[in-house]
Formats: sequence, C-alpha cells, structure tokens
Amino acid sequence: MEYNNKRKNIVLTGMPGSGKTSVGKRLAESLGLIYIDTDKQIEERMGVVIRTIFETKGEPCFREIEKAVIREVSSLYGCVIATGGGVILDPENMTALKEHGIIFLLDRRPELLEASYERPLADTKEKIFSLYKERLELYLSTADYVIDPDSGKDADFETISQVYLDQETVYDM
Ligand code: S3P
Repeated sequence: MEYNNKRKNIVLTGMPGSGKTSVGKRLAESLGLIYIDTDKQIEERMGVVIRTIFETKGEPCFREIEKAVIREVSSLYGCVIATGGGVILDPENMTALKEHGIIFLLDRRPELLEASYERPLADTKEKIFSLYKERLELYLSTADYVIDPDSGKDADFETISQVYLDQETVYDM
C-alpha cells in the first residue's frame, strides 16, 4: 500500500479585501503547504498588473486567463489557493476547484471591505456594496464552509486548519 498524502487543496473565495491573501499565506506557512495566488499567476503570465489587464484588454480577456489559471492549479493537491473575487462567476471554475479542493468562503461584511485602486471592480465603496449584493448567493452556494474572518481572534485560521487536517488521507492500494 502506497502512502500518497493527497490532501485536498484549501481554496479561499470571497470578495476583494476579504483577507484571502493574508489568511492564505499564514495557513500555507503554518501547515507547510505551497501558497498560490491566482491573481499573481495571471499578472506573471501577462507581465502587467490586474488593473492594466482590465484597462487594456477588458474583463472578458481577464476572465479567460483566470479560467486557464484555475484549470491548471485545480490539478494540484495540498496547496492553499487564494482566488480572485470573481472566480465564482464561472461555474466551470468552481467545478474544477472542487475536484481536489475544499472551498472556504471568507464572508467579510461589506462595511468592512476596503476599496482599493488596484482592484478595478472594487475601487469604490459603492462598487463593493453592489458587487456583494450581486454575488452573495453565488459565494454561498459554491462554498463548502462559510467563515467569518471577523468573528474573533484567529477563528478563521483555526477552523480552516482543523478542516484541512481532519481530512481522510488517500491511500493507493
Ligand atoms: C476581482 C477581484 C480581484 C481580481 C480582479 C477581479 C473580482 O481579486 O481578480 O480585480 O471580480 O472580484 P481580489 O479578490 O484578490 O481582489
């Protein structure tokens, strides 16, 4: 019997500014896993920042590249994958991510989400509120676990770590 240790990926979804990057990095460090940020992968592939991709090529082009990146990272095991906030818009992205992944939604209340220039779809408070309203149902229906990142000291980090560690280990017979 061969021990494979094929644990599922920790996949973080949620609105821009919900803390996917910071929680993801911490989880990867503490659990000894590889950390993957799909936005960073897209930027590396294109050689420019996300905002420039939106401005010069448009959102449909960004979504196409995002989908290709998601397809690639979905084949891995035992990684922490921080996704871009719009990943839930394409059901095929979520099907791919779920194959080897547990989906944790970081559901930060929109009042607590910060607008930022680097995030073209979330660079004003108004945009954040309307995106949240538009997407909430999709975020919830695609999540295996809904985590409130503001529910108390380290609650998000502890819950996600525990779910990850509690997985059954896969054995090849
Ligand atoms: C987006 C969120 C961004 C980035 C792009 C689109 C979205 O990622 O993928 O600007 O549609 O919500 P973050 O959630 O990491 O900011």
